Amino acid sequence: MRLGIGARITAVFGLGALLLSILLGGLSYFTVRHFLLAGRESAAQHQAFNNAVLVRTQLQLGTTGYVTLLTNIDAGSDAHSVLYHGAKYYVSSLSENASSIPLQLRRDALAGTAATQTYRTGQGTAEFAVGVPIPSVRAVYFEVFDLSDLDHTLRVLGLTLLVAGVVTTVLGVALGRFASVRLLRPLADVSRAAGAIAGGELDTRLAEDDADPDLEGLTLSFNAMVDQLQERIEREARFNSDVSHELRSPLTTLAASLEVLEADRDELPPRSQRALQLLSDDLHRFQRMVGDLLEMSRADAGSVDVFLEEVDVSELVQRSVEAGFGHMDGHRSGSAAARNGSAGNGAGGPPGVRIDPAVRSWRVGVDKRRFERVMVNLMENADHYGGGVTEILVEPGADGHVEVAVDDAGPGIDPMERLKIFERFYRGSAAGRRGTGTGTGLGLALVAEHMHVMQGDVRVESSPAGGARFVLTLPVLSEAEDPADEPSRAGGLE
Ligand SMILES: Nc1ncnc2c1ncn2[C@@H]1O[C@H](COP(=O)(O)OP(=O)(O)OP(=O)(O)O)[C@@H](O)[C@H]1O
Ligand SMILES: [Mg+2]
Repeated sequence: MRLGIGARITAVFGLGALLLSILLGGLSYFTVRHFLLAGRESAAQHQAFNNAVLVRTQLQLGTTGYVTLLTNIDAGSDAHSVLYHGAKYYVSSLSENASSIPLQLRRDALAGTAATQTYRTGQGTAEFAVGVPIPSVRAVYFEVFDLSDLDHTLRVLGLTLLVAGVVTTVLGVALGRFASVRLLRPLADVSRAAGAIAGGELDTRLAEDDADPDLEGLTLSFNAMVDQLQERIEREARFNSDVSHELRSPLTTLAASLEVLEADRDELPPRSQRALQLLSDDLHRFQRMVGDLLEMSRADAGSVDVFLEEVDVSELVQRSVEAGFGHMDGHRSGSAAARNGSAGNGAGGPPGVRIDPAVRSWRVGVDKRRFERVMVNLMENADHYGGGVTEILVEPGADGHVEVAVDDAGPGIDPMERLKIFERFYRGSAAGRRGTGTGTGLGLALVAEHMHVMQGDVRVESSPAGGARFVLTLPVLSEAEDPADEPSRAGGLE
């Protein structure tokens, strides 16, 4: 797993703080320990030698017994004396024992060398022992010092340093976290701005006045890039719109002239009649395409004129289907389906609309013209690729939406293509299969565009008959019955 920049910065700070506190803590601990121990040992050594001199004097005088002798020596509260004389050990304190002195030290001292040793007894007490041979009286004087105090001090010091180390590390991590958040904030800003721009908000810019001096270059070039991008997109949209616009009037002239010719169609020889038919088919296709392109480029340029009205959804669908069917027929005079007179549902009339009773008086906000265009596009597609519309359903949808489903019984749409077909100029595999080379692939892109303008959406799934089902969703404005409404003509299957 790769750590993010933020996590890495935090880790570096934490690790740095940890290493630093180990280093400083260890250094202070061992320095303090060394000095305390050295001081204590030299004082103890000094004292032991002084006492040894005292013992020698006493033994030379031979005046007192061993116990009196040893108790008379001032060893202090944290030390005791041991005397070896005449192959026997004598101890100043009853609770002590000569065997607590390390063997090596005893051996050295008995062999005639003064020696010292720091060690831990079986009970875990730290002790320091000094052995001083006194050859003139053939004795050895030992003094044993209890280092518990020093031990305790060092333990407390160690614990304190450990706690300080932990606190430092935690502070280091917190500092790292803070620094990484601060450092990454400009990046987060850039990523947010880029996201907004990708989502279509081309006006988004990074704030230039409160930019970090180190990142000023980035901010400026980012904004410059978006400026150019925006200008380019707008220029392209303008260009598209201009081209479509310019194409419209000559096309209208052509269509008018064609109508004149068509009026005298019967007088033309059959070959010319056929040519006229082809010309008129292609001209209509061309006109439609230019219309679609114009609509598309208007949407891109952001100049969308939406006339949302509140209408009864059942009525809206009924009327759009009827109006759309007429429109489609006229419009698609050149299409294979219309030419062969096969309108899919066999009867040649508009497809059946089934309205769920639950949605009967629901009202939606739509642009009627756009909604009609949506229905025409879906019905045309069903005719072209799905053998005609089998049914149109109006049903309640998820959270406050109503759904209009347009079904056909054709080959349906491959799940891999279900998002792509809404892209501009995308013509799926079905288009080629049917051999109807008439489409441009703009129809569904416009459907999606229209639906979004009306706060709705469109998706495609499978119809019960195995064909395609295009589902339009629209937000519901109110579900209440409006008494002013004429009784809905829709209900059940017509
Ligand atoms: N009902 C359907 N059944 C199967 N495939 C469909 C259906 N509707 C659309 N498609 C596929 O989706 C593609 C895109 O459809 P769209 O309406 O956007 O473009 P078109 O019909 O090819 O051209 P245009 O509508 O611009 O004349 C079609 O080419 C077709 O392959
Ligand atoms: Mg189409």
